[in-house]
Formats: sequence, C-alpha cells, structure tokens
Amino acid sequence: MKKVLLVGQDGMLGSELCSRLTSYTDKYEVVSTTLQTLDITDLEAVKTKVNAEKPYFIINCAAYTNVDGCETNYDLAEAVNGIAVGNLSEAAKEVGATLIQISTDYVFDGKLDVEKAYTEDMIPNPVSAYGKTKLMGEENAKKAEKYYILRTAWLYGQGKNFVRTMLNASQTRDEVTVVCDQHGSPTSTTTLCEIIEQIMEKEPEYGIYHSTNEGFTTWYEFTTQFYDIKGIKTKVKPITSEQYKAMYPQSSDRPFNSKLSKEKLHSVGIYPTNYVDAVKEYLKGE
Ligand SMILES: NC(=O)c1ccc[n+]([C@@H]2O[C@H](COP(=O)([O-])OP(=O)(O)OC[C@H]3O[C@@H](n4cnc5c(N)ncnc54)[C@H](OP(=O)(O)O)[C@@H]3O)[C@@H](O)[C@H]2O)c1
Repeated sequence: MKKVLLVGQDGMLGSELCSRLTSYTDKYEVVSTTLQTLDITDLEAVKTKVNAEKPYFIINCAAYTNVDGCETNYDLAEAVNGIAVGNLSEAAKEVGATLIQISTDYVFDGKLDVEKAYTEDMIPNPVSAYGKTKLMGEENAKKAEKYYILRTAWLYGQGKNFVRTMLNASQTRDEVTVVCDQHGSPTSTTTLCEIIEQIMEKEPEYGIYHSTNEGFTTWYEFTTQFYDIKGIKTKVKPITSEQYKAMYPQSSDRPFNSKLSKEKLHSVGIYPTNYVDAVKEYLKGE
C-alpha cells in the first residue's frame, strides 16, 4: 500500500484524481488537502504535513490557473505556481517521496511550425505570466530528486472550462466566435488521471512527460466537433487570435502551437485516448 499526499484536492483535476485514487483501496492510502487545510506557499506547513504523513507520492494539483489573472497578480502567481513547488520539492526530498507536478504547454512560446509538435527536450520560452511562473515550478520540481513533470494542455472536466462555456453559450446564442489559429490537444481530466495513474504504476525514468489526449485540433474545429456530437445547431464562426485580442485587449497572449508530442509517453507504454473519443465520453455527463 502506497501513501499519496494529493494537494489541491478542490480543483478540477484534483477532485477527480482524488476520488479515483481513493477508490483503489488495495493500492493507495490517500491524504488530500485543499487551500484551506494546506496552503502550499507556507513552507513550514508543507514540511510539517509531509513529515507527518511520509507519503510515497506527492501529487501537486494546486495552482493559480487564471491565465489573465496571472498577468495582473504576478506575485501571487509566482508564489503558488513557482515558489510553492520548491516547498513541495524540499519536503519531498526530506522524506524520499516522489513529486508529481502538473505543468502546461504554456511553458513554450508556441512559435514552432504548426506542422510540428513540441518534444520534452525543446527549450521552453514562456510568453505569459502563467507560463513563466509554471516554468519556475518545473525548475523547482526538478529539485526533488524523484520527480515527474506532466505537461498537459486545454484541460476540461468537472469545473469551469472551455467545453462547458461553449455548451452554455449555445443555449442563448445563434452564433459563437472561436479562435481558429491556435493548435493543440483538448485534454479531459479523466485522460490525465489515467496517465497519472499509469505513471504511478509504472514509475518510468524520472523527468518530463507530455501528457495530453491524442490528436491535434484548433479551438474552432474542436467546438464544431463537440457541437456536432451534441446535435447543437449554433453557428461557429472562426476568428483569428488577433481579432480575439482586439475584442478582449486585456487577455494574455496564447501560444499558436500548443502541440505536445506524446512519443516519450508512448516509449514508456502509455497511450492516451484520442481527444474526440474523450470528449464524447465527457459529453455523456453534460
Ligand atoms: N485548466 C487548464 O486548462 C490547464 C491547462 C494546462 C495545465 N493545467 C495545470 O493542471 C493543473 C490542474 O489544473 P486545474 O484546472 O484542475 O486547476 P484549478 O481547478 O484551478 O484548481 C487549482 C486548485 O489549487 C488551489 N490552490 C490555489 N492556490 C493554492 C495554494 N496556495 N495552496 C493550495 N492550494 C491552492 C485552488 O484553490 P481555490 O480554487 O480555492 O483558489 C484550486 O482548488 C494545474 O497545475 C494547472 O496549472 C491546467
């Protein structure tokens, strides 16, 4: 039986992962925390908790994920997404725990030719405050001797997310406008949970693993696909990122190319579901 300390249990990923891991009663003993019970920016509190529990795995699902908010609240974003990951690493090292840190495609600038996908060994160059602070989190996660950094993208699940927002919009509008020049892989929290569980099971070589659903699309094409699946007739109008920025000048710049190669994940025997199958499954509950 392996003990797991899961921090950020209240979040979109954290809540699903926590209930899944808790159900594997023969494999894992799960201790989970929320912002209210453990603020990961508090080094002493983190060390006290980790030393008391002595977990085998520490999974960090906590983050400051408001991409536009990170631009205006940089200090908070840096504290939660960057510095606090160092607290978890330091504590993990003290008890010999393996840290599983969730990161993002936003560590890249997205300028790579859209015919290509980013591999784990490519040099990050974040353009947004969110990306910069998450990259700091990656650097700090590496300080734990045993670590996995799982970079995901375009995440949706049980919480506020793009799919839900567009489904809600379709109920009141005849037409929605969606950005058509950003490329990536929509990723369901269920698929990400499956990847995390397989990483925990297989314990491959420590390092970074790109962890999204299989297949690539654009936000525009994705919206037309899940509207079709749901039989929604609302018109989807493509717009460029430039047009979007003109409509919402305060919004943070998003990478044009968020494609993450899954070759390394495949090399350790992990094969995520295709994004269309994943969203079909998700829509059964929506
Ligand atoms: N959502 C995406 O599209 C996306 C894309 C790529 C990568 N990711 C990464 O995936 C991971 C999970 O994302 P998510 O969408 O599940 O995030 P989420 O729903 O925003 O959940 C994050 C959780 O962290 C908590 N938290 C914030 N500050 C904290 C602190 N100082 N100490 C402890 N907990 C704190 C939040 O609490 P409050 O809600 O009370 O503030 C929230 O419950 C994150 O690492 C994120 O960066 C997400």
